Amino acid sequence: MEGPFYRPGAPLVAPPVALCADDEPGEVLFVSGQVRSAADGRPLPGALLDVWQTSQAGLYEHEDPGQPDWNLRRRFHADGAGRYEFRTVAPAPYQIPHSGPVGRLLAAVGRHPWRPAHLHLKVSAPQHKALTTMLYLEGDPWLDDDTIFSVKPALTIALTRHDRPEDLAARGLDRPFHTVAYDFALQRGSPGPA
Ligand SMILES: [Fe+2]
Repeated sequence: MEGPFYRPGAPLVAPPVALCADDEPGEVLFVSGQVRSAADGRPLPGALLDVWQTSQAGLYEHEDPGQPDWNLRRRFHADGAGRYEFRTVAPAPYQIPHSGPVGRLLAAVGRHPWRPAHLHLKVSAPQHKALTTMLYLEGDPWLDDDTIFSVKPALTIALTRHDRPEDLAARGLDRPFHTVAYDFALQRGSPGPA
């Protein structure tokens, strides 16, 4: 699901990839992994990742005047072995817009408007179908009650916290950070709409 908060044409950046400035408020998070072909498991060099997410306040940049344009939205390519890494901050749960008909529908069926914190990703590569998905943070209070019923166990990621001085020094950070690894497998086929 792409959802309503996607903006096509996010800045295309080269490694080291960061979705935001170094002083972005929130828990620093490094996400890394590999993009492979589902057919045979071979890496997909140069696969394109298009990532978007909320700030730690649960707001996308275009609905928050306090964030720079395109904040927490970037596109970047995996390396020659299909590997990628990016720096960001942990996103936060948010309420879907519920002031109009959606809100009346939710009220009618007795549902709340909350979504668990998540990263949105579109992953694409030549000769493969583009994959649009979301990754959810383990431990989120809304993980078992997403208002759009989109959470799957395979899309839930567990963050590892790092606070040893030598680990911080290796990353050039002065505060603890989290890491998570996630690999993507793309089905063979035509890429489909961008
Ligand atoms: Fe979202």
